[in-house]
Amino acid sequence: MTTLSPARSDIPARSDVPAPADPLAGRSVAQTIPSSCLMDIYRAAERKERETGAEIIKLHVGEPYFLPPDDVAKALVDAAQLGRTSYTTVEGILELREAIVAKLARENHIDSDVSRILVSPGSAQGLSALMRALAEPGAEILLPELHWPVHLQQALLAGLKPVFYPLGEDFRPTPEAIRATAGPRTRVLMINSPANPTGVTMDADRLAALLAVAREQGWQVISDEAYEHFVYEGEHTSLASLERDVPVDDRIVHSVYTFSKSLAMTGYRLGYVAAADERTAQALRVVQEASIIAPCTPVQYAGIAALALSGITDTHREMVRRNRDTLLAPLVEAGLLRELPAGGWYAMLDVSRTGLDAETFSMRLLQAQNVAVVAGAGFAMQPGLDAAGRIESAGFPPWSRHLVRIAFCVDPQTLRTGVSRILDFVRSCEQE
Ligand SMILES: Cc1ncc(COP(=O)(O)O)c(C=O)c1O
Repeated sequence: MTTLSPARSDIPARSDVPAPADPLAGRSVAQTIPSSCLMDIYRAAERKERETGAEIIKLHVGEPYFLPPDDVAKALVDAAQLGRTSYTTVEGILELREAIVAKLARENHIDSDVSRILVSPGSAQGLSALMRALAEPGAEILLPELHWPVHLQQALLAGLKPVFYPLGEDFRPTPEAIRATAGPRTRVLMINSPANPTGVTMDADRLAALLAVAREQGWQVISDEAYEHFVYEGEHTSLASLERDVPVDDRIVHSVYTFSKSLAMTGYRLGYVAAADERTAQALRVVQEASIIAPCTPVQYAGIAALALSGITDTHREMVRRNRDTLLAPLVEAGLLRELPAGGWYAMLDVSRTGLDAETFSMRLLQAQNVAVVAGAGFAMQPGLDAAGRIESAGFPPWSRHLVRIAFCVDPQTLRTGVSRILDFVRSCEQE
């Protein structure tokens, strides 16, 4: 006679679902995670545009004012027309991974191998896969206290408990602060340089010091280098280049890159992970197979064409640098911006002198001036979790309530208008 396993007592049978006294009862982890603050303003701006026909100055999204190069678009179309549309291997086509390995050696000084590359639909999916590949039961991930909210969502979905390390006044972490924040369950450290949302970069010395702490503590490191080509002061250092001389099995830095920023290929959805070691690369392939089978085929051919271009990323960096140098200065002069961002596409403004919290500031700015910006608290959420990893409360450090993020990768005229309207709005608040 077949014996049925006894019902698991920790998951109540449907008829046993308790009355909704406990607000989290019957809810999955995902059901407790809010959409990011980026989505809130995105929807509000779209609604205003639709309902009033007003032209909104969009400083809330990181969409650049340059387009993907023609060769990239042509490679995509050619691939589709030539019938290169079947599934590829889970990790992506070999030719693209070879081109990625060559790029990593040439530009990032990372000695990777095609066996450790995973092509992903956008680096967001690569990051998500990486967190799932690294998550041990009960493990914690260290995120910066000002973070890209998607990193937080990804960590929670992977079952990693987020713990937040403090940033200095200059928005950079110190090794001491990171060491002091960690605990016995810390397994993964997130580094994002150039950073979203602050635009800060870390030089090789700072990165080496952070890497030394991670090594000493036995952690894995995720280095999100989405904005690798947008460094305006000094040179970009890829964290994994600092462990070139370490045997592959002992490496701990997993690097994540994207075609979205450098080549404006945001909607192509193409990125990649360079895993530190073969064991993680194998886990990444399993996660990828289970989530998407393989990346989109014609887009991978577009990626090969993109990597064959030379000089284009320098052109794009200089276009954004010009915006930064010429159009953000009035914000610094007005005391709203501490300093020009050293990298990336974003700047964090402090609007405390308006007397408004950032949420109110961003909504009123949209109403009064048709300018969309993102309230900064959403980049600083510190959720309280129950034992199952579900969010039961959301804390926000008080200092984050006056921060507002703007994107400066947009076309210069849009940025000029947006900055001037922000300054007008701030003045009007001060006169009230
Ligand atoms: C820090 C950071 N990492 C990763 C990404 C993901 O970009 P994508 O999925 O388009 O590659 C973004 C996008 O805004 C980002 O800001």
